Amino acid sequence: GTGSAATGNGGVVIRKARLEDIPRVIVINRVTLPENYPEWFWRDHLEKWGEAFFVAEVDGKVVGYVMSRVEYGAPNIAKGMLVKKGHIVSIAVLEGYRRRGIGTALMKAAIEALRERYGCKEVYLEVRVSNEPAIKLYEKLGFRKVRVIPMYYLDGEDAYLMAKEL
Ligand code: ACO
Ligand code: ZN
Repeated sequence: GTGSAATGNGGVVIRKARLEDIPRVIVINRVTLPENYPEWFWRDHLEKWGEAFFVAEVDGKVVGYVMSRVEYGAPNIAKGMLVKKGHIVSIAVLEGYRRRGIGTALMKAAIEALRERYGCKEVYLEVRVSNEPAIKLYEKLGFRKVRVIPMYYLDGEDAYLMAKEL
């Protein structure tokens, strides 16, 4: 990509997030996921890894986001002792806009940026073991379940760590 906004199917635009999108992104996160974060956390990710933080717009309205970060450490699946890893921290699409490919488009944009802009050798994430929609989406994109992280969530649910080599 060139970094400019790209129009997908159904008038969906995927573009990089901006500072003024953060309040709306926080609202979408709060209505879609139990994992919520303070405003500084979102701003910090935008400031540090803004090339891999995207929003989806429909009719000029933000309806989804994906936020990532870059870490350096032991790989989950890539080869090597220490590698750059892209970490998908949070992704969500508002309920009325799902099953239109928006989640896929957001993930593809983040993965491409993590590889091309940041030189990541793998991308990984955690997901609730019960979250079938998200797990299906990730598997379609080539992610594999690497391991279970017991009691990862505050309510005691386990997570799958899923990863994809870049
Ligand atoms: N049931 C079964 N499969 C599903 C479902 C579902 N409800 N939703 C998506 N999928 C699978 C399908 O294979 C789908 O392809 P298809 O529609 O051709 O069958 C594929 O995923 C891609 O779907 P998209 O339309 O690209 O995804 P969508 O825009 O609906 O967004 C998302 C998916 C982000 C998981 C959405 O359901 C959501 O926001 N859920 C609530 C928040 C959430 O769980 N986020 C992930 C938490 S983990 C993390 O953030 C790292
Ligand atoms: Zn995580």
